[in-house]
Amino acid sequence: MINGTRLTKSAIRWGMVGGGKGSQIGYVHRSAALRDGYFDLKAGAFDLDPDRGRAFGVDLGLDPDRCYPDYGAMFAAESARPDGIRCVTVATPNNTHYPITRAALLAGLHVICEKPLTFTTAEALDLQAIAAERGLVVGVTYGYSGHQMIEEAARLVADGTLGEIRIVNLQFAHGFHSQAVEGDSPATRWRVDPAFAGPSYVLGDLATHPLYIAGVICPDLRIKRLLCSRQSFVASRAPLEDNATVLMEYDTGAVGTCWTSAVNAGAMHSQKVRVVGSKGSIEWWDEHPNQLRLEIQGEPARLLDRGMPYLHPQALADDRIGAGHPEGLFDAWANLHYRFALAIEAHEDRDPSGVAGLRYPGIAAGVEGVRWVEHCVRSADAGGVWVDYA
Ligand code: NAI
Repeated sequence: MINGTRLTKSAIRWGMVGGGKGSQIGYVHRSAALRDGYFDLKAGAFDLDPDRGRAFGVDLGLDPDRCYPDYGAMFAAESARPDGIRCVTVATPNNTHYPITRAALLAGLHVICEKPLTFTTAEALDLQAIAAERGLVVGVTYGYSGHQMIEEAARLVADGTLGEIRIVNLQFAHGFHSQAVEGDSPATRWRVDPAFAGPSYVLGDLATHPLYIAGVICPDLRIKRLLCSRQSFVASRAPLEDNATVLMEYDTGAVGTCWTSAVNAGAMHSQKVRVVGSKGSIEWWDEHPNQLRLEIQGEPARLLDRGMPYLHPQALADDRIGAGHPEGLFDAWANLHYRFALAIEAHEDRDPSGVAGLRYPGIAAGVEGVRWVEHCVRSADAGGVWVDYA
């Protein structure tokens, strides 16, 4: 049970790049990192516009001298301070993740970076190598994976309740961009511009979330090959897709599908993960994250609820308030941030084995998301052909 008691020796002095005034995800990062006192916001280069970024940092209560015009200035100045930041969050558009994360690692900082981690697998592997060489943590904010019922789903697969896994059905298909809303929305505009978004829109922006969750639930499945078809229903978004379907074959003989869309008109998130085994199935939906549907063939379907004593202990460990009171995305993000903090402390103590069992989306998850998108794009752009997964 989480009750606000910090499990690390100290709060991590922390900075942010991006996530400034009016940004979509900046507040969620601050809320998650500051919630349980694991991180202490000390510095920031919050905005492309230096004056606006500085004013925002001052509003947040930061020392004006530690509100920097850009990340380069921040890393240089903070490295020179005895009380400089130890970790930085990168909450900027996708095109900047690689250079900013690389510069942060080279400055000796742990990083929490937004997804997709980079544009290319080669870039992601470069970050992985630098982090490994320097003993630094890179956390990637696949935030939904912090929901506790994901842990229950993983236990139900691990203990054989579902039998042999046959089918994985993934979906993240919202309807908010059914029309060309990017005309009025800067945060949508960069998402449909390859210079800022990278080689994909919805595959990287949305589908990597359930992809990561599927990996948590079914860690033994390895993709053998995949086939992707992608469309730009709002034509001005081409070459970036606002809809895509992916077929996957795993090396166990299991198969998977993923439908991702921003033009699923009328739908809210519609992020769902369904895993079908030889004995039964589970289904989790991010709009009802406190429940997990368990269907055993021949028995009535059951709706498992977060916080209930019938869950596996691992699914109860991060409970904050007890069953019946709904927890949400902010709680899930906070769950990931305390794990990031534990991992950072263990790395600083040169004892990463101490957190070997700690589940959090780290650099390997970041690399995998980028690798998957790269394969999907290669398949789709070759006309929707099977490509071997390497
Ligand atoms: P946004 O466009 O709403 O905000 C971006 C912020 O970054 C702005 O404050 C902007 O001024 C600042 N910025 C841009 N370049 C900068 C630079 N070089 N230095 C300092 N600040 C800079 O974008 P949004 O929606 O907040 O997305 C940011 C990132 O978060 C993206 O990579 C996106 O994919 C990811 N994201 C992740 C979510 C999740 O569930 N994990 C949800 C939403 C976004």
